[in-house]
Amino acid sequence: MSPAIEACGLTKRYGYVQALDGVDLVVPHGTVFGLLGPNGAGKTTAVRVLTTTVRPDAGTATVLGVDVRRHPQRVRSMIGLAGQYAAVDERLTGRENLVLIGQLTHQPRSQLKARADELLEVFRLTRAADRPLSGFSGGMRR
Ligand SMILES: Nc1ncnc2c1ncn2[C@@H]1O[C@H](COP(=O)(O)OP(=O)(O)OP(=O)(O)O)[C@@H](O)[C@H]1O
Ligand SMILES: [Mg+2]
Repeated sequence: MSPAIEACGLTKRYGYVQALDGVDLVVPHGTVFGLLGPNGAGKTTAVRVLTTTVRPDAGTATVLGVDVRRHPQRVRSMIGLAGQYAAVDERLTGRENLVLIGQLTHQPRSQLKARADELLEVFRLTRAADRPLSGFSGGMRR
């Protein structure tokens, strides 16, 4: 089985700033991985390369065995990215936001409600499900 993430020699330069300088990384399946470092060290740049929103100047990276440079759309279809700020609709409830995202990503219509309920339970949000997002904490939104 391919590692969840495998990067080899990733480099990225912005003008005179060397944001990534030969990053090697292997993240095995089923693990939680924390990438720590000083401000400006290149963490966000590395995440952008791995999630296909920035192209590296050199090096290779695969997510679940799929090359991020050659098959960015395939990588995107397999991953989720929770940023610092969650792209949610504050006026809708937790349940409504999940159904909306299901519609936008073309999930089967008949399963939208059941899948929303399932996710609410996984994230322990069942009790908050019918409250508008405006009253959710940052973590609850993400
Ligand atoms: N779009 C950009 N244009 C110019 N320089 C950039 C750009 N993105 C990142 N950089 C530079 O690349 C370096 C790495 O930035 P990056 O955002 O990856 O750091 P970081 O480790 O996420 O920092 P922080 O802990 O502050 O979030 C910094 O010097 C930053 O100024
Ligand atoms: Mg950052």
